[in-house]
This record gives sequence, structure tokens and C-alpha cells, in this order.
Amino acid sequence: MNRLECIKSMVSECSVAADIGTDHGYVAEMLLQDSKCERVIATDINEGPLNRAIEHLNSVELNSKCDFRLGSGLTVLNEKEADAIIIAGMGGELISDIIETSKNIALQAKELILQPMTTGNKLRQYLYENGFKIIDENIVKELHHYYFIIKAVPGKEEIKDEIYYEISKKVLEKKDPLMNEYMNKLLNTNENIIRSIEKNTSSDYNEKIEVLKLKNLKIKELMEN
Ligand SMILES: C[S@@+](CC[C@H](N)C(=O)[O-])C[C@H]1O[C@@H](n2cnc3c(N)ncnc32)[C@H](O)[C@@H]1O
Repeated sequence: MNRLECIKSMVSECSVAADIGTDHGYVAEMLLQDSKCERVIATDINEGPLNRAIEHLNSVELNSKCDFRLGSGLTVLNEKEADAIIIAGMGGELISDIIETSKNIALQAKELILQPMTTGNKLRQYLYENGFKIIDENIVKELHHYYFIIKAVPGKEEIKDEIYYEISKKVLEKKDPLMNEYMNKLLNTNENIIRSIEKNTSSDYNEKIEVLKLKNLKIKELMEN
């Protein structure tokens, strides 16, 4: 399954879905083609991408089921207007900022489907600490890149160890072989960083090495369980 198919598969059947940062409009199109929802609110902060989405949805004759809105994040939505909110293809910190800016709207949706391109750890931490619960998560691989797709709902879950910000608990539980591949890659990256900064004698760097060594120890433990 590719990234966009996985995003679509994780959206529950609903009446209205919001595709935030729609760009080409492919997520909106896939949701409507697959009858995942009756209507989509497709939004973007930039006019160029929003126009691309309008043109694309016109070309596949789905524009009548789509509302197009220009603006930042969830500020263009009214409370309870969208059952599912999809925010995909942005950095984890930007996704967290978008949710935090309009938290009332995010908390009133039935589900959030989030796909961070970077800093998934920051996004998971934000969700755990700000009234959201991760109820599902998947990993997909496309052209050597690993992507995580998170389904979150309002709620609370205690996390026992901060390593679960970095290593998704839900994906680990599924024992997806891709997760082992991803963790091996992470171990190698961390080991390379450790080797390259070990040459540096400054005490700040020593602290960073210790943090990375501890992280790798925990990742190895998770891989053995
Ligand atoms: C890389 S594209 C992702 C497109 C699509 N969601 C996907 O996953 O393939 C990111 C899009 O998010 C838009 N964007 C960035 N910040 C945004 C914000 N605060 N609110 C809405 N859209 C935003 C950009 O203009 C761009 O079109």
C-alpha cells in the first residue's frame, strides 16, 4: 500500500472529511472515489495548490462534492463541521501547531488522520500531552522513505517511556516487518552520528552521545520483545 492509499484506508466512513493542505487534491479525490465520505472540504494556505486541487477535482468530475477553502489549518472550518480531519504531508511540528491553534475544532472531530513528513516524535508527544489518544498507526515505505500515518481521537493515554514518542507503540504492537527495517535504519543512523561526534571532545557533545546511546539501547530492547 502506498502513502495516499494508507491515508485513505484509515479514514472511517463519514459524512464530511476535511483535507487540510490538499495541494493536488488527491486525498480528497480518493476519499470521494471510494465513498469514504459524502463531501470533502479541501483547504490550502496557498492559492496555487488550492487552484491545482480545484482543477483536478473538476477534471475527475467530483468538484460538486467538494468545498474549496483558502486559509491556514483548521481556521477555515466551523466547529463540528468535519467528522474526519486529514492533515498529511507536512512536518510534525507544523501539524501540532495547526491542531493547537484550533484545538476546539480538532477536539470536536470524530478522528484526526495525521501523516507527518518529519518529526513524528514531536507530533506523538504533542498528541499524548494535549488531550488526544493514538488509536491506530501504520507504517508504509515509498522509494526508501518510511511514512507513519496516525489516527488520533480526543482522549487520554499514559505513556510509560518517552521512547514511544519516537517508536510508535501501535505499529510495534502490529509486528509489521517494515517497523524492524525502520528501527534498524534508525539504529544505524544514530550509530553513525555517535561515531562522527565521538571525535569531538566538548562536554556538550558527550551528553548528546549518551542520549543517543540510551535511545539505541531502548530501541534494541523493543526489537527483542
Ligand atoms: C507537501 S503538500 C501535501 C499535500 C497532500 N496533503 C499530501 O499529503 O500529499 C503540503 C501542502 O500543505 C499546504 N500547507 C502548508 N501549511 C499549511 C497550513 N498551515 N494550512 C493549510 N495548508 C498548509 C501547502 O501549501 C501544500 O500545498
